[in-house]
Amino acid sequence: MSTNNSNRKDPGLSREKKISSPAGPLTVFTPGIGAVSTTFMAGVELIRKGLRKPVGSLTQMAAIRLGKRTEKRNPLIKDFVPLAALENLKFAGWDIFGGTAYDAAKKAGVLSKDDLELARPFLKGVEVMPAVFDQNYVKRLRPKVVKKAQTKMELAEQLRDDIKSAMKSHGSSRGVMVWCGSTEVYTEESDVHRSLKNFEKGLAKNDPKIAPSMIYAYAALKEGLPFANGAPNLTVDMPAMSELAKEEKLPIAGKDFKTGQTLLKTVLAPMLKARMLGLNGWFSTNILGNQDGEVLDEAGSFKTKEVSKLSVLEHILQPQIYPDLYSDYYHKVRINYYPPRGDDKESWDNIDIFGWLGYPMQIKVNFLCKDSILAAPVLLDLVLFLDLAHRAGLSGIQEWLSFYFKSPMCAPELYPEHDLFIQMTKLKNYLRYLKGEKLITHLGVEYYPDNSDGNPMRRRSASK
Ligand SMILES: NC(=O)c1ccc[n+]([C@@H]2O[C@H](COP(=O)([O-])OP(=O)(O)OC[C@H]3O[C@@H](n4cnc5c(N)ncnc54)[C@H](O)[C@@H]3O)[C@@H](O)[C@H]2O)c1
Repeated sequence: MSTNNSNRKDPGLSREKKISSPAGPLTVFTPGIGAVSTTFMAGVELIRKGLRKPVGSLTQMAAIRLGKRTEKRNPLIKDFVPLAALENLKFAGWDIFGGTAYDAAKKAGVLSKDDLELARPFLKGVEVMPAVFDQNYVKRLRPKVVKKAQTKMELAEQLRDDIKSAMKSHGSSRGVMVWCGSTEVYTEESDVHRSLKNFEKGLAKNDPKIAPSMIYAYAALKEGLPFANGAPNLTVDMPAMSELAKEEKLPIAGKDFKTGQTLLKTVLAPMLKARMLGLNGWFSTNILGNQDGEVLDEAGSFKTKEVSKLSVLEHILQPQIYPDLYSDYYHKVRINYYPPRGDDKESWDNIDIFGWLGYPMQIKVNFLCKDSILAAPVLLDLVLFLDLAHRAGLSGIQEWLSFYFKSPMCAPELYPEHDLFIQMTKLKNYLRYLKGEKLITHLGVEYYPDNSDGNPMRRRSASK
């Protein structure tokens, strides 16, 4: 069946957005060259050489349905929206340990010997730039190579110089920055974060409430790079950065990659709510033996992660609307550093639920995962989608990327959307919206012309 193209467009909401070409090199900047970022870089290299498959990446593997189910139009996302090609990705980043991405990948111990060897020449070409670091924000690590300056503003300027020279050496006119550094200690929003003017004054006066990740984000936005935050730190989730992003017409997103236990939580909790099953308690515990686990073993950094991991249930379950089911549940999240397991995280969830007439039941989940193997495709998708957003002229918080985060950033008057499948619908509809395609509501009345007004009474009388 051929449908003329103009019928497919949604005349109300969408007109196809102008999106500039993704051709040419795109530099990916990662503050933090550790387990996640090196697994990502090595993976991109092995995939573009045709040696491995991009499993876990929507931009590389997922299809998107367009139009009615009868139209059978299901292009791959990468054929539907213009994304940068993996061949065009270049890499640069900062860390406190110096060396190259190869040294960091070897230390992280995620990749097999064979994969590490295959990626070695490429990873050796990514030299780690000296970091902007503050021991007060990451207490467990001892830095080897860091930048020095009189003020935080001067540190931001040094980062801006690094960005300019990496872009120049790659011949890139576009870049994206994603924070892949350690989780910083818990920081609440305060005056210095509330406006760009306050923030810039704070940089000049070395305000202690400005964390290193914020200095990177500031430098990125000033240099015209979209920014996403893979950790739960405040970083860009503050009015000052939203203001700067708007001013510079740049997309921002965050925070905290949604990869393991929380990914499962945001699938299971919507199921409980969908079936109106109650919750008495949810106990989540993890063991993790990589460097991230070591950093999170310190109370300040753990608090940042804990707040991020705890926030999801309340927004999904909405106890204010369903007090009989969710007003009194106990929710606990624990992470224990356990070196023998390295990057192989194991998580257990004990979920005490109740059903009809209040009868209790239990669900047990035991996920044996590989932290960075789950995070790498998330990082790849964020890079490509942020670059797409930039080329489509989008700026400020990109809520359609909530799918990738434990604590999705959203407008101040909104609550974040945590349900994984609502997030996926939002993401795919956003892509349709960018391309001027009809949004998919799943209403389905168009397949049943006899009852398309949805009123069974009228249907019966009409058939008489
Ligand atoms: N792996 C996952 O599944 C996952 C999920 C959600 C969030 N995260 C977050 O992603 C981040 C990276 O995780 P990872 O496993 O790669 O950790 P990692 O410890 O292997 O790497 C982080 C790197 O950041 C560096 N670093 C710390 N402060 C820095 C600074 N100021 N500037 C530059 N570098 C700095 C550290 O030296 C380290 O090498 C962590 O914050 C982690 O909590 C990871």
